[in-house]
Parts: sequence; C-alpha cells; structure tokens
Amino acid sequence: MIPVAKPLIGEEEKRAVLEVLGSGMLAQGARVKAFEEAFASYVGTRHAVATSSGTAALHVALLACGIRPGDEVITTPFTFIASANAILYCNARPVFADIDERTFNIDPEDINEKVTRKTRALLIVHLYGQACDMRAITEICEDYNLKLIEDACQAHGAEYRGRRVGSFGDAACFSFYPTKNMTTGEGGMVTTSSDEVAERARLIREHGSRVRYEHIALGYNYRMTDIAAAIGLVQLAKLEQMNARRIENAAMLSRELKGVEGIEIPYVMPEVKHVFHQYTVRAERREELIKKLEKAKIGYGIHYPKPVHRQRLYLELGYGDVSLPRAEKASREVLSLPVHPALKEEEVKLIAEVVGDVQRRVDRED
Ligand SMILES: Cc1ncc(COP(=O)(O)O)c(C=O)c1O
Repeated sequence: MIPVAKPLIGEEEKRAVLEVLGSGMLAQGARVKAFEEAFASYVGTRHAVATSSGTAALHVALLACGIRPGDEVITTPFTFIASANAILYCNARPVFADIDERTFNIDPEDINEKVTRKTRALLIVHLYGQACDMRAITEICEDYNLKLIEDACQAHGAEYRGRRVGSFGDAACFSFYPTKNMTTGEGGMVTTSSDEVAERARLIREHGSRVRYEHIALGYNYRMTDIAAAIGLVQLAKLEQMNARRIENAAMLSRELKGVEGIEIPYVMPEVKHVFHQYTVRAERREELIKKLEKAKIGYGIHYPKPVHRQRLYLELGYGDVSLPRAEKASREVLSLPVHPALKEEEVKLIAEVVGDVQRRVDRED
C-alpha cells in the first residue's frame, strides 16, 4: 500500500524524545522556548508561540487579534473545518467568500463583495501548500482596515514573492499534525511580529496567567509539551529537505499527467513557492479513478468532500442559503494523490501510470 501521507521520523527524533523523557521535565519548558525561537527565525517573524494544536493556534490568534462576539470574519469555505470553527469559538461569525478555481484559495474579488460594517478580519488559508494572492489580500486589509490572520497549517515553508507565509498577517497559525509537512505528533504555532499580539497569545495559552495563580484574563491550557517541541526542533531542521522532495515528486507527477484527459494538474502561481502539502488534481470521473487507485493499493484523499457551509453544523447555524458554486464544484472534483517525501521514484511513476491509464481507458470505454 502506498499511503497518502507518512511522517518522516528518524533516529534523531527518537533520541530527542528520549532525552526529554530522561530529563524529567516533560511539560512546556526549555525545548518549547528553543522551538519557538527557531520557528520564528525560520518564518521571519519576531515571535512564535507554540500551542497544543493548529486549531488551538487559530483560536489563540483570533482572540489575540481582538476578535469579539458579533464580529464578522471573512474566510474560505474550502478548508478543514477548524479554520471556520475557530471563528465560532470566539462567538464571531464566519462569512464565506468563494474560491479561485485555479488555486482553490480564497478569491480576493469575492472578499470585496463580502465586506460589511461588521467585518473585523480576514482569515485566509494557504491551501495544499500554496500561498494565497497576498498582494490583493494585503491591499483589501489596508483599504478596509481589517486584521489579517493566516492559516498556514498546510504551508510550512511556502513563499509568496520570496517571503515566507506566516509573516504577512497580524498573526499566522501552523499545525504539526502527523500528515503535515513537519510534525510534532500534535502541535501548533502562532507567529507574529507584533509584541502585543504575542504577549496576548502567551496569556491566552496559559489560563490568562503571567504570574502563577494570578489570572488576569480568560485563557485556556493550549500549551505544547517539551516532548513535542523536541521532535519539532529536529523536524524543522529537515523541513527544507522534506519540502524539496515534495516539490520534486509533484513535478514528476505533473510531467507525467500533463495533458491526460479528464485530469487537471495543480496550477502553481508564478509568484509562489508551492510546498505541496497535497498534490490535488481535479478528476472528471473521480469515482472511477478511486476504484482504480484502490485496486492498485494507492492511497488518496479528498480534501474536502463537503465545503464548510454545507456541513450540518453550519446548516443548523443558518448557512443553508449560502451559495458558493466554485467551492461546491471543487468538492465534487478534487482528489489528492500521495506526494510525501517518503515516496520512492518507482512509486511516483506507478501513481502517474495508474492515474494516466485510468483516464485514457475510461475515455476509450465511452
Ligand atoms: C487548513 C487547516 N487549518 C487548521 C487545521 C487544524 O490543525 P490541527 O489538526 O493541528 O488542530 C488543519 C489541520 O488539520 C488544517 O489543514
């Protein structure tokens, strides 16, 4: 079986964990601090605040940017549910803007249509490892005086015009879940260059407490463990290399699949470095393709089979009339193929062969 995702964990990560276990200091401590410093320096921000997950990072970032009950936050419907749910956690209202058909990322033109007097922020998602159109997005934020929060949970190391994602917003969030471009098991990070946002984020992560048993605000326990941070430090040092493998695998798949009927290969904007968290194609006949992949024991993913506004939770919250045709169409067509750095060259070739052949044969059967 070729899995659709696989973390690359080696001897170094194992040694790093054993060292922490041996030290007896397991919770947030020196490793977390070192990981935060290394991560901020990698992304290019003044601060990084480690959290227990990417979801926690989103919640912390929104609160630290001052999102309050009743505020509207514009986001994409074509993402993992955590992006929008974090807005609900703040008792604010997600307002969905449709996606760009080529990149699957939020469409700046549709953001413009959705801004109201209540809009406080944009929460954009760099989906599949490709940066959003940051020039248009930062312009909108300036025009309407909106906060910008980047969900970079799928985009560690991705760039827009030579600048790393996670450094554009008032705050940005990363996830270190095992399928991501780097992992800590579970974990997350908020990056920011604002001293104030960083200070608030640390407070919220720590039950609103700066001094032990003194609580000045409502907070949570969103801390990362030193065990996770020890893994993160090793993984961060390998990230560029792991991303390079993803990029090579994606290039090989695109070379082989270009021009195959019924398959649309990923579009990469000229001004970005796409780090291929997912290699996602549009497949005209997705069900047929799935059957062949399953027969050939090739893993795949559908990211995402239902846009957020069509989830039952959101229907019950009154989003039943919301129409976002491009996100809805993408949900019916997308399919992610394995692209992770543990793939061997023969495996990438086999994936391309099965996908290419399937579509051609289907066409002949018509
Ligand atoms: C776009 C996006 N946002 C948020 C999250 C949430 O991250 P986590 O699973 O670490 O809570 C994920 C990953 O699962 C994600 O892909």
